[in-house]
Amino acid sequence: AYLNLTSKFNDHLSNVNLMDYAFSISSIHRFLEEAVDEPTGWLYAPLNMTNEETDGILALAREIVENADVLVVIGIGGSYLGARAVKEALSPYFKKHSNGIDVEFVGQNLSGTYIKQLIESLQNRNFYINVISKSGSTLETSIAFRVLRHYTRERYGENCKERIIVTTDSEKGLLKEIADIQGYRQLDIPSNIGGRYSLLTPVGLLPISVAGIDINQLLNGSYQAMIDLNEADLEKNAAYRYAVLRYELYSHGYQVELLASFEPSLVFIHEWWKQLFGESEGKEKKGLFPASVTYPTDLHSLGQFVQEGNPLLFETFLHFKCFEEDYSVPFTELDDDYLNFLSNRTFNDINAISEEGTVLAHAEGGVPIIQIELEKLDAFHVGYLIYFFMKACAISAYLIDVNPFNQPGVEVYKTKITDLLNEETITN
Ligand code: PA5
Repeated sequence: AYLNLTSKFNDHLSNVNLMDYAFSISSIHRFLEEAVDEPTGWLYAPLNMTNEETDGILALAREIVENADVLVVIGIGGSYLGARAVKEALSPYFKKHSNGIDVEFVGQNLSGTYIKQLIESLQNRNFYINVISKSGSTLETSIAFRVLRHYTRERYGENCKERIIVTTDSEKGLLKEIADIQGYRQLDIPSNIGGRYSLLTPVGLLPISVAGIDINQLLNGSYQAMIDLNEADLEKNAAYRYAVLRYELYSHGYQVELLASFEPSLVFIHEWWKQLFGESEGKEKKGLFPASVTYPTDLHSLGQFVQEGNPLLFETFLHFKCFEEDYSVPFTELDDDYLNFLSNRTFNDINAISEEGTVLAHAEGGVPIIQIELEKLDAFHVGYLIYFFMKACAISAYLIDVNPFNQPGVEVYKTKITDLLNEETITN
């Protein structure tokens, strides 16, 4: 199996009988398959992405890498987190990929300092911009696009059009209108795929490819997951078992799911996961609150709470077994730090033992544990994981009887901001 799912539950939970869920899961499975009126295009995105489309994205990525030092990606939420998550997970820590260029993100905050310093940082570099918005009218994205578009015109004059790529709904929206009128190059987001389920479309694929990551491998991994996780049978479907375990814990009063990893490059996979589950499930006063920790950093911070604090949470450990690179602890004659007992052990080895110890300690403290394990931190397995989480999330949301594909709560804050900005403008 490409992904293993196990659990360590304390006594009152250890008897989860998966078969109790067999009927409801197979009904949800069927519903999802047949829900043609819902935005479920992501279910078959790895299959529907044609070679022509992928080749088009690869060619565009090559053009950008050849003609720019940096790609500025403008977007927020599902139009931002997926690309950032995969880029951070699979890029070297202290330099860029040899076959990629810098990818910077903007539009996900409204900090004046951030945007000013971004523009300053572009002054001696050549750049392209890729604005991404499904609706085409998200405030944060639109303002950042206005600034970047203006600056691109200043820098490149009439040739600026070559350097502006618009990723938006294939059929409608203000951004599409602007792109049509101005003649900007466009990449389509299929109408039946919503923001947080769009990583495996041009939304994620162009920036990820520009960062130097193999998108064919990413798509291969997600394609494999699509095949493996299309089983209605719970025993054979790890995504459905994950959804059931979460539901069981939720039904027993657990309120927070803490996603835990021991590799710092996964921080943005956590962020993407939080948005996916938080926005899909958190409605009608229901849902688990998705939070995350990166260990061992957080063992010296939130670890105390996890071990002995309010027992409202369970932990899901995300673990990759193999990594491209590693480093050994050196032997020293002096041994004044008494660490020679670790000499020649590698960091990844010690990290894995640290994870094992943490799982044992937290389980002993009464924290229910779910473990998700994949073979290797590479594009294939990350693609697999992305699809696994999306499938599990949709099923999870249906288990608590909420719609995984809307986000009515997000509209409330948007209206308030727009009203306030309009009021301020009028009084000024
Ligand atoms: O998952 C979602 O639908 C949202 O998080 C959106 O991605 C986010 O609000 C950005 O929307 P848009 O892509 O329309 O700019």
